[in-house]
Amino acid sequence: MKIYCEKDYEAMSRRAAGILAAQIILKPDCVLGLATGSSPEGTYKELIRRYQAGELDFSKVTSVNLDEYKGLSGDNDQSYRYFMDNHLFNHVNIDKSRTFVPDGLGTDSKKVCADYNEIIRREGPVDLQLLGLGYNGHIGFNEPAAAFEKETHCVDLTESTIEANKRFFEKEEDVPRQAYTMGIGNIMRAKKILIIVSGAGKADIVAKAFTGPVTSEVPASILQFHSDVTLVGDEAALGKLMELV
Ligand code: F6R
Repeated sequence: MKIYCEKDYEAMSRRAAGILAAQIILKPDCVLGLATGSSPEGTYKELIRRYQAGELDFSKVTSVNLDEYKGLSGDNDQSYRYFMDNHLFNHVNIDKSRTFVPDGLGTDSKKVCADYNEIIRREGPVDLQLLGLGYNGHIGFNEPAAAFEKETHCVDLTESTIEANKRFFEKEEDVPRQAYTMGIGNIMRAKKILIIVSGAGKADIVAKAFTGPVTSEVPASILQFHSDVTLVGDEAALGKLMELV
């Protein structure tokens, strides 16, 4: 695993954007696996800046997002489709019809998941998968559980995830209780993984995920078995890990 320990969130974002930009430059028709949340916001800002400076061309890029809340439409400002449109897609020359997010409005969970698996299979393999890390070790919405779920599935969000995500909603009751997410198998089949983490609050889980036992109780720990992982974090998030490696 390659580790980049950067001074702060801005430096982390610049580093992560540089890695994504290199992927797009080396393979203009690459498939990017993308994430939402606070961690990638700065990375997307930097990618937009590079696009506006004429350094990047997204016209042939395909993207598949990790997850989507069940029950939210793409024009709901809390949906992950809305997040992606507003934080990246609307600001670069990506072909929107080549950007994929699970269908939050699909009520037949089995069908939504089968359709999304088929999209990933058809468009993939993912060249570079961007991930954030949940406080409980989740990646995508693969929550701590007794076993790894391999393919796209519908999950009940844990209390800790609802608590962490309520900051984006008016009231805690508004946070959807279920989501569609790529499975661990979908994520592990990406050729390269880029995981970004910031803030002291994640220092313990970062150390646990990358130096502790590989277990479905800490879903990100599976990344220890992937052959091409780059971890980019700020000093606060990587402090504990750097003492151990
Ligand atoms: C988002 C996702 C989640 C987040 C994780 C960290 O698409 O899949 O796993 O990456 O919850 O979220 P932030 O970055 O907001 O701390």
